[in-house]
Amino acid sequence: MNIQWTDDLAIGISVIDEQHKTLISRAASFSRAVESGNKKQMEDTVNYLIAYAVQHFGAEELIMIRNRYDRFKEHRDEHSWFIKKVFDVHAKLTGGEGISRPDAEEFRDMLLNWMLDHIAVKDKHIAETLNSFGGPLR
Ligand SMILES: [Fe+2]
Repeated sequence: MNIQWTDDLAIGISVIDEQHKTLISRAASFSRAVESGNKKQMEDTVNYLIAYAVQHFGAEELIMIRNRYDRFKEHRDEHSWFIKKVFDVHAKLTGGEGISRPDAEEFRDMLLNWMLDHIAVKDKHIAETLNSFGGPLR
């Protein structure tokens, strides 16, 4: 199982779309590391993914705040939930505890599914709402 950018994931806010492309490519790197079963590579790619996810969610949340997006709180809660999941796996991988292959695969599946659903449904809703008011203030 892996993930890749397709144009139907575009939400129409170019700065966010570009960030989503990067986020997806980082998730794909992590997924390949899980596939190969290489723990060091899993550790490196999860580090790489979490750093970008935190930065990207911050940028997206700022757009929501600036535009007084009415579903800001529930959207931010989804980001927080996701970060917590990645944090737990990151802590296992970097804390010496390690992760079993079934757990790594389960986490990868959650990660990829969450990302696709979140972008295609929740992030698209931000763009649709802001565009209905004449487009987002950045
Ligand atoms: Fe989001």
